Amino acid sequence: MNILVVGSGGREHAICHAVARSSRADKIYCAPGNAGIAELAECVPIGAMEFDKLVDFAKDKAIDFAIIGMDDPLVGGIVDRFEAAGIKTFGPRENAAILEGSKAFSKELMKKYGIPTAAYETFTDPEKALSYLKTAKLPIVLKADGLALGKGVLICNTLEEAEDGVRTIMQEKKFGDAGNTLVIEEFMTGREVSVLSFTDGKTIQLMSSAQDHKRAFDGDEGPNTGGMGTFSPSPFYTEEIDQRCKEEIFQKTVDAMAAEGRPFVGVIFFGLMLTEDGPKVLEYNCRFGDPEAQVVLPRMKNDILDVMEACVDGRLSELKLDFEDNAAVCVVLASKGYPVSYDKGFAISGLEKFDNRQYFCFHAGTAKDENGQTVTSGGRVLGVTAKGASLAEARRNAYAATEWVDFENKFMRTDIGKEFV
Ligand code: AMP
Ligand code: GLY
Repeated sequence: MNILVVGSGGREHAICHAVARSSRADKIYCAPGNAGIAELAECVPIGAMEFDKLVDFAKDKAIDFAIIGMDDPLVGGIVDRFEAAGIKTFGPRENAAILEGSKAFSKELMKKYGIPTAAYETFTDPEKALSYLKTAKLPIVLKADGLALGKGVLICNTLEEAEDGVRTIMQEKKFGDAGNTLVIEEFMTGREVSVLSFTDGKTIQLMSSAQDHKRAFDGDEGPNTGGMGTFSPSPFYTEEIDQRCKEEIFQKTVDAMAAEGRPFVGVIFFGLMLTEDGPKVLEYNCRFGDPEAQVVLPRMKNDILDVMEACVDGRLSELKLDFEDNAAVCVVLASKGYPVSYDKGFAISGLEKFDNRQYFCFHAGTAKDENGQTVTSGGRVLGVTAKGASLAEARRNAYAATEWVDFENKFMRTDIGKEFV
């Protein structure tokens, strides 16, 4: 099969790795890809939002199967465009990707179908939002409705902060049109866990659980980032919690989308909070997590193309997902200053040491310079991932491997999975 993967981050590198392991993959293309992906796939300089060019390219290269990694093109309807051109594509159509694309939609869906989540109100008028805040309990959570690069969520401890937040999102439009509608939500406490799943619109199958670390600095301090590291599985996601989620959340979500005439085909990422009252949905994403994919996919035993094709063909019930009985830890190597401001273009050394069996170095923000040298080109640069028999071993392996790689301004958290020393 000729495969096209759309995206350019560590998640897409992990997807390309899994595809490259499939005996069914002949030629792999990635648009636009990065320097690491270029080792496995032919990278083509077409942006993920350039739908016309992507469709033309896919037709020209006789692509048999396209895989969309990123949220923006999915929410923008790339799958509908590929399908209209007769290209089999893994990912939700536009009318289903709204599950991530609009928080107001997903909250409404959960309310209508009785799926546990934080209590909330939705506003399109900033004055009404401001007057609602006067009676609301603190802390309180503000969420821009639309996609905002994972930055559209504000947790406010005081009324002043919350009022400022309403102004920033709804009036100053810090996140653009994503802030036309605002969700104001009850603050929940508990452990967070990410559960990724495959679904064909009827059947849902769960992948191994994971936990992300979103803050920039150790001890969950500092600004929110795209994710500074992950581990999988999450020992906090117990059998008992899994059972509850199966009864109250997972299948219910798939059935709700089908009942709304929006059958969801692809990956649903459940961002869960394990509260005292049981698991509740923090958010849905319509694609693999980044960097969750980097710790989940290397542990998956199935041929990823078999699973993805079964989703698109509506026969996921015929398959069983199988994961290795081990653990993985991913430590993100970022550029100092990320996520605020940072320099790029520094040479990266040590990349040849990874065996791609137990140790992986997934590229997030890298490029080749004019001499063919791999250099930093983003805030998150690499996701150094290692497996181990236990989380403690995986953690030791991953941190040992972070020493193999070097570049100027290299920065990482030192406490990913610190519970498992
Ligand atoms: P989201 O993009 O919705 O996942 O939100 C980003 C992060 O904000 C989550 O991973 C949580 O850490 C936090 N968060 C979101 N909603 C809530 C909530 N209702 N209560 C507490 N924390 C939240
Ligand atoms: N790691 C969180 C996300 O991919 O949105």
